[in-house]
Amino acid sequence: MEDADLRILVAGATGALGSAVAVLAAERGARVVPAGRDPHRLEQVAGRLGSPAMLRFDAYDSDGCTRLAARAADRLGGLDAVLVTSGTVAFGPAERTSAVIEEHLMAVNALAPMAVLRGALAVIGSGGAVGAITAAIVDRPVKGMAAYQASKAALSAWLDAVRTEQGRNRISVLDARLPHMDTGLVDRAVAGTPPPTPPGADLPAWVAALLEGMISGASVLMPHPVHGAPTLRR
Ligand SMILES: NC(=O)c1ccc[n+]([C@@H]2O[C@H](COP(=O)([O-])OP(=O)(O)OC[C@H]3O[C@@H](n4cnc5c(N)ncnc54)[C@H](OP(=O)(O)O)[C@@H]3O)[C@@H](O)[C@H]2O)c1
Repeated sequence: MEDADLRILVAGATGALGSAVAVLAAERGARVVPAGRDPHRLEQVAGRLGSPAMLRFDAYDSDGCTRLAARAADRLGGLDAVLVTSGTVAFGPAERTSAVIEEHLMAVNALAPMAVLRGALAVIGSGGAVGAITAAIVDRPVKGMAAYQASKAALSAWLDAVRTEQGRNRISVLDARLPHMDTGLVDRAVAGTPPPTPPGADLPAWVAALLEGMISGASVLMPHPVHGAPTLRR
């Protein structure tokens, strides 16, 4: 896949990371359909991208999530890639985390991305790519983030299984296990207060690696175990 030929849906393009990857893709010549929940931010990002369409979705509308890729394909005359960048976070030790918060994280961070990508698999042809941002925490637990980690690990496991299934269709499946970045996500937590966070990783470098991972058909994007730089695995 080449950047300039790419027709891509970014679900979560109203967020910090989603808008950054959508803008980078558009700058490189891709045709991008942004999808998001907040109508104002969605209009703003669609304007920056010069998009032919923008799509609203909410994580709790499972059917709407599943239909998203088909709607984007209608507008673009087909679709090569779908990337899910939506998500939310909560903090607190497991014994003080409510079932409501656990369900919310599972709905937004696991079930909704799965629904979007399930719909994408029915639309994207051979040689295409699907992917989602999980988190580096999947491999390295952090105290006070059990519910968040569990939701991201569920998505990561689903992506692993789907990658095995899609080998026959030549559709690549990217699990982007990103490290902490200063996007303001921790300040938008739906519960709890964040533990002391490490310095944020280099956002432009990770966003570039994320796009590269989608285009090159990589399986995993993760911090290098020694120096922490973005590392793509085939
Ligand atoms: N920032 C980090 O340090 C970091 C590290 C590892 C992984 N991640 C993951 O990267 C992704 C993006 O994070 P970010 O830092 O860019 O955060 P962000 O700026 O807060 O973006 C979050 C995105 O998720 C969307 N969203 C939240 N709840 C939703 C719902 N119920 N329905 C539909 N969309 C919903 C938001 O939509 P609206 O704005 O339209 O409401 C927004 O597009 C998340 O999955 C996060 O877990 C982030």
